Amino acid sequence: MRLNPIIDSLPTTIFEVMSGLARETGAVNLGQGFPDSPGPEDVRAKAAEAVMHASNQYPPMAGLPELRQAVAEHYGRFQGLDLDWASEVTITSGATEALMAATMALLQPGDEVVLFQPVYDAYLPMVRLAGAIPRPVRLQPPLWRITEAALEAAFSARTRMVIVNSPLNPTATLLSDEELSLLARFCVRFDAVAVCDEVWEHLVFDGRIHRPLMTYPGMRDRTIKIGSAGKIFSLTGWKVGFVCAAPPLSAAIAKAHQFLTFTTAPNLQIAVAYGLGKAAAYFEDMRAGFARSRDRMTEALAAEGFAVLPSQGTYFLSIDLPRSGVEADDQTFCMRAVKEAGVAAIPVSAFYAEDPVRTVVRLCFAKKDETLDAGVERLARARRLF
Ligand SMILES: Cc1ncc(COP(=O)(O)O)c(C=O)c1O
Repeated sequence: MRLNPIIDSLPTTIFEVMSGLARETGAVNLGQGFPDSPGPEDVRAKAAEAVMHASNQYPPMAGLPELRQAVAEHYGRFQGLDLDWASEVTITSGATEALMAATMALLQPGDEVVLFQPVYDAYLPMVRLAGAIPRPVRLQPPLWRITEAALEAAFSARTRMVIVNSPLNPTATLLSDEELSLLARFCVRFDAVAVCDEVWEHLVFDGRIHRPLMTYPGMRDRTIKIGSAGKIFSLTGWKVGFVCAAPPLSAAIAKAHQFLTFTTAPNLQIAVAYGLGKAAAYFEDMRAGFARSRDRMTEALAAEGFAVLPSQGTYFLSIDLPRSGVEADDQTFCMRAVKEAGVAAIPVSAFYAEDPVRTVVRLCFAKKDETLDAGVERLARARRLF
């Protein structure tokens, strides 16, 4: 049977593979990035109440006005953005749909797209399905920094788009002010649009501040900023995303969205609108809770002799295998860890399409203390296998 070769050649994602093995073997799952807490009770109660008492019919295609207003207000309050909710905010079914709508709406065959490896697994197939050509920039540990030389080599007159993920999954790093300025200069110089995957924007630690690329010189009208309520409220199954962009970009993305999902569950939209209106203290407490888990896991790993790469944001931290005394590549370590030591983790090489970094393993710390402790104890067991 003839199938689309881009889709047909896709492997099952490493997250599915690892979670599947974890289920089969009863392993502690530090692989896939989801918290094992139920999420904020008041936000969940709002969704339940909305199912019973609000409309359950198709909401407006671009999203419920109350949620679009809440998104604009939220980003005004936390990131100093001045967004017009009616012409610059669209609600999607998760950041994933927002990314697909953005690539569908903007790219044409032959366009080039600059993106950064390690790369979130959805980007490459999305770019290729649009007929566009990925131009990956390779980042490497321990700092994973973007340099001017790398951008000079990647950008060309055919560059239409750059896809930027900060805070970056899986490296748990934030782009610095210099890197953001550099990206802005290249986007302006090559007349490229920036698709900014900012799903981890609230998960930043140690007093760090997430700065949207949209606020840099020349970027206001050429940036598509994408957020995810699933990440903000630790409710990853909800799949409620937001796209913020200047009116012509928003209109184009809404046209793609109308034939992808058309709309998103209204009760979840109502609950997210409520959640985004919460006081700053809620978001600070949430961050502090995750930072505590990060520190607990970092200390336990260090005590077992693991070299931990610091985590500035996201739900993740990484271990460096050679510096932890493990003489194996990341895939081998992760496979033996899940099958023989009862703990699932993610090999960072899975985030590279070419020339992968094979020395780093990603761990999710968004877990209860007992899960973290059991996970580290099993990782120590895995380390002794090598
Ligand atoms: C960088 C990045 N982008 C997008 C997503 C998906 O977001 P959503 O669940 O809202 O589609 C994730 C989820 O892990 C992510 O890490």
